[in-house]
Order: sequence, then structure tokens, then C-alpha cells
Amino acid sequence: MTAAPPADLAVLLRTMPKAELHVHIEGTLEPELIFELACRNGVTLPYPSVDALRAAYAFTDLQSFLDLYYAGASVLIAEADFFDMAMAYFRRAAADGVVHAELFFDPQTHTERGVPMAAVIGGLWRARAEAARTLGVSSELILCFLRHLSEAAAFETLEAALPFRDRFVGVGLDSSERGHPPEKFARVFARARELGLHVVAHAGEEGPAEYVRTALDVLKVERIDHGVRAADDPELVERLARERIPLTVCPLSNVKLCVYGSMDEHVLPALLARGVCVTVNSDDPAYFGGYLDANYQALFAAHPSLGAREAHRLAANSIEASFVDAGKKAAWMGRLDEVFGGVDRG
Ligand code: ADE
Ligand code: ZN
Repeated sequence: MTAAPPADLAVLLRTMPKAELHVHIEGTLEPELIFELACRNGVTLPYPSVDALRAAYAFTDLQSFLDLYYAGASVLIAEADFFDMAMAYFRRAAADGVVHAELFFDPQTHTERGVPMAAVIGGLWRARAEAARTLGVSSELILCFLRHLSEAAAFETLEAALPFRDRFVGVGLDSSERGHPPEKFARVFARARELGLHVVAHAGEEGPAEYVRTALDVLKVERIDHGVRAADDPELVERLARERIPLTVCPLSNVKLCVYGSMDEHVLPALLARGVCVTVNSDDPAYFGGYLDANYQALFAAHPSLGAREAHRLAANSIEASFVDAGKKAAWMGRLDEVFGGVDRG
């Protein structure tokens, strides 16, 4: 594995206009901000310092990460906390060439602690407007249900969010995957579709390829979050390519959570070569070692077969797979082609 892609390619990866479609906003809370918010809100953390907290970021699987992720999110109390967290993410995203981001948020993590839904969505919504105005970054919100909780709890959450229906474009499904198959949430996803919401779900991150199939067939999702385990099933891969179902893949996350032993084992290049609409994303960048650009750089460094042609394809896929109107997509595709204007794409 090489340390970095060639210099020209590295610049292209960072500057090409792209969308980020899989980032948990609570997963962008850097240890410094966790300590600042803990101090602001009088929350006691089980770590004495920023360094001690960061040193605990050595994960063995998804659950070992989620335990820390939920503990970190406990410092979020007021509307301003959600605003500050999201603005910190948007500044990083803008520096990485992100023109559009679709942010997952986990209301149950907050409402269970007595934080009002209005504070969660209000803070994120205000940051969305501020990011558009000051950074030129467009964004949408996607409300996620926690799959380790019941479907009844998911229904209650959807109900509580309905007064803010115009502030989120879709629903998703995240948290502990194994033992919580997509069909557990069949009815609440049917209700979300009736409401005209987009639907996505985490599937095939740690769980089997079968969960990808049931997310498609039972939940009728439009995109699969992660989905890398689909690579175990050639027929499913062929279907994903044929039906042009986007996968929002998160390379650094998969290595940090031990889905792969190292980046050079990652299946993203193989899925891309088979015609799947793969996209690159950061998942929980504060915990996994980097934001969107770091994911592109690490992936391309570990896979020298990936070049300018694949960079363009991945950025174009991210724009195509986003939940924005055709006019916005066409404008970003035009900007992408301009950036690649003089570049040999092999
Ligand atoms: N919540 C935050 N990050 C997640 C991930 N990678 N998988 C499932 N749930 C999550
Ligand atoms: Zn995720």
C-alpha cells in the first residue's frame, strides 16, 4: 500500500465537487467539542481529558464504537449545541470540496434524555441555512431510527417529528445491525413512504448480504448505506448494478470497525468495476480518522488501480444518488466536468 495517491490525483480528489450522502452528524463531534459542550452543559464525562478520550477510539466491531458514540452524544442538550456541531462539520466538508451533504441524525439518542425534538431539528436546520449562506454548501436532513430499539419506538419518533415534516427529506435505519433485520421496521417504513419521505437503510455493514436484499424488497429503500457485504453474493451485486441502486460506502469506517483488516482488502474498487453505483462517504469522521477527503485519499492510496476515471465516476455517482432536483444535479455535474476538463481519464 502506498501512503498517498500521485500529487495531481490527490488534488483532484480534494477539489472535485462531490456530495456526501452518509454522515451521522453525531459522529462528527470531535473530542475537543465534546469537552467544550460537556463544560457548557455541566455534563460529567468518564474521561479526564481530550487525549484520554481520543485514546479510547480503538474499536473491535460496530458495537464497541456505538457504545462510545452514544456516550459522546450525551453532551448535546441545547439547540445551540446541535447548531455548533453541524457548523463544525460543514466547515470541514466545504474544505473537502463537498457541495451537498445529506446528514443523518438520531433523534432517539436525544429525546430519550429529555432533549426536545425541536432543539435537535431546530439547531440542525439553522446550521443548514447558515452553511448555505456562508459556505455555499447545500444540505438535507435524514431522520434515522435506532434499530436496537422497537418499531413502536420508531413510530413514536416519526410522530414526534411530524410537526417538522418540511425539515427532513427522508428516514434511515442505523445502530446495531446484527439481530435487527430490516423487516423489523417494515410498517414504519411503509408509513414513511406514504408520507412522501425518501427511505434509506444501513444494511450489509456487519450483517449479511440477505439484509441488503430485505432492505430493498421489504423496506423498499432507494439507497443502501454501506452494503459492502453484498459483495459476498454475485447475483445481488448484479442486481444492484442493473437497478442502479446506490451504495453509500464508508472506507475508513469499514477498516476502523474491522469489517476489513486493511484498506487494500476493501471491495469498493471491485463493486465499482462491476457497474454498481458506489459512492464514498465518511460515516462518523471524528471517530474513524478523517472526513470525506481522507476517505478518498486512503482508498486511492491503497488501490493504485483507481485513477482519474474512477475519481470522476465516484463524484458523479454521489451527485446522481443525492435527493436533490434535476436542475441542481445538472449544475454540479457541469462543474465536475469542468474540473476534469483537461484531465486524461484513461
Ligand atoms: N450509527 C452511527 N454510525 C453507524 C454505523 N457505522 N453503523 C450503524 N449505525 C451507526
Ligand atoms: Zn453509518
